Amino acid sequence: MAGFKTLDDIDAVSGKRVLVRVDLNVPVADGEVTDATRIERIAPTISELSGKGAKVILLAHFGRPKDGPSAEFSLEPIARATADVLGRPVGFAADCIGDKAASAVAAMKDGDILLLENTRFYKAEEKNEPAFTEKLAANGDIYVNDAFSAAHRAHASTEGLAHRLPAYAGRAMQAELDALEKGLGDPVRPVVAIVGGAKVSTKIDLLMNLVKKVDALVIGGGMANTFLAARGTDVGKSLCEHDLASTAKQIMIEAAEAGCAIILPADGVVAREFKAGAASETVAIEAVPADGMILDVGEKTVKTVTDWIDRAATLVWNGPLGAFEIEPFDHATVAAAKHAAARTKEGKLVSVAGGGDTVAALNHAGVADDFTYVSTAGGAFLEWMEGKPLPGVEVLKR
Ligand code: 3PG
Ligand code: MG
Repeated sequence: MAGFKTLDDIDAVSGKRVLVRVDLNVPVADGEVTDATRIERIAPTISELSGKGAKVILLAHFGRPKDGPSAEFSLEPIARATADVLGRPVGFAADCIGDKAASAVAAMKDGDILLLENTRFYKAEEKNEPAFTEKLAANGDIYVNDAFSAAHRAHASTEGLAHRLPAYAGRAMQAELDALEKGLGDPVRPVVAIVGGAKVSTKIDLLMNLVKKVDALVIGGGMANTFLAARGTDVGKSLCEHDLASTAKQIMIEAAEAGCAIILPADGVVAREFKAGAASETVAIEAVPADGMILDVGEKTVKTVTDWIDRAATLVWNGPLGAFEIEPFDHATVAAAKHAAARTKEGKLVSVAGGGDTVAALNHAGVADDFTYVSTAGGAFLEWMEGKPLPGVEVLKR
């Protein structure tokens, strides 16, 4: 892959200690991993290195522990879940540095896999302190980063180590960077973006960057209301950041200057309360009742969105079009997702999605596997789409 060193660039790993930064920040309930997608994504890198006879030493964080080690934030249960996914044993060391880590590493045979305890049990991890990085580096000969979703953090295990050891992108990192390049870096045009979700305030930089890069930008979800209100449409009791009216206007001005079409809802599904099964009606967007809340875009808007998907060669998608977590307000998100999936299957569309609720929304629509690429990254995906350099990616560049 152009620009990055990958596993293909490592001469020989047999017998080498390879420190692999992975993202094991997976959802856990009652000690069980409820969604193993992130573990499945890193399996190819681990299997490949192990198969070549490397000693594979996994580094990861879990949650955001504040006060050092605790059972709550231990990676130990996740070592078991990783072993289940890989179908082979994964050892565990109760510390990521020091004697416990060193002795576990010393006991490894070629091809063995070992997970070290949560790197965030040390504050020095997040501060990227050189002395801590040195201690992590003491257990490895080579560094592989396979955690795109943590690459927006300049931490010791995501950034610092790449300065200490020969550094390479793992297969999941490679796939992610390839997909993002196809989606937004060097896409086939026309490019359409769908951005949804609740708030404009968390996505200002994203929208500002997208209007300069894409041919059409569909704005849905609660954030569309802020744009509608800014142009003078009454959105009733809908979620709306009225204080961001001038930001929304500025985004629309930048879009016009860049030749990017902005597509706002033409109709909305309106309810009086935010709850599953609430009575609702579809109204023209100029006719939202004063006591109504827009919880989804209407059929007319869905048709406009699917028409744009038909015109697009590339689609990037972040955020749902409506309150997809409660029925029946998942309708537009599901319809648009199915349409994009079908076009992708026909070979007519490159579809890249990610960030926050997007994966959950596509899973809900049952089409996550039919997109060209679905990122498991949240913040890192957004920052990449905002056009910001990610520290963990920058250090891997040739
Ligand atoms: C994530 O879950 O988004 C990544 O693992 C990064 O976690 P963080 O937001 O706690 O840095
Ligand atoms: Mg996050």
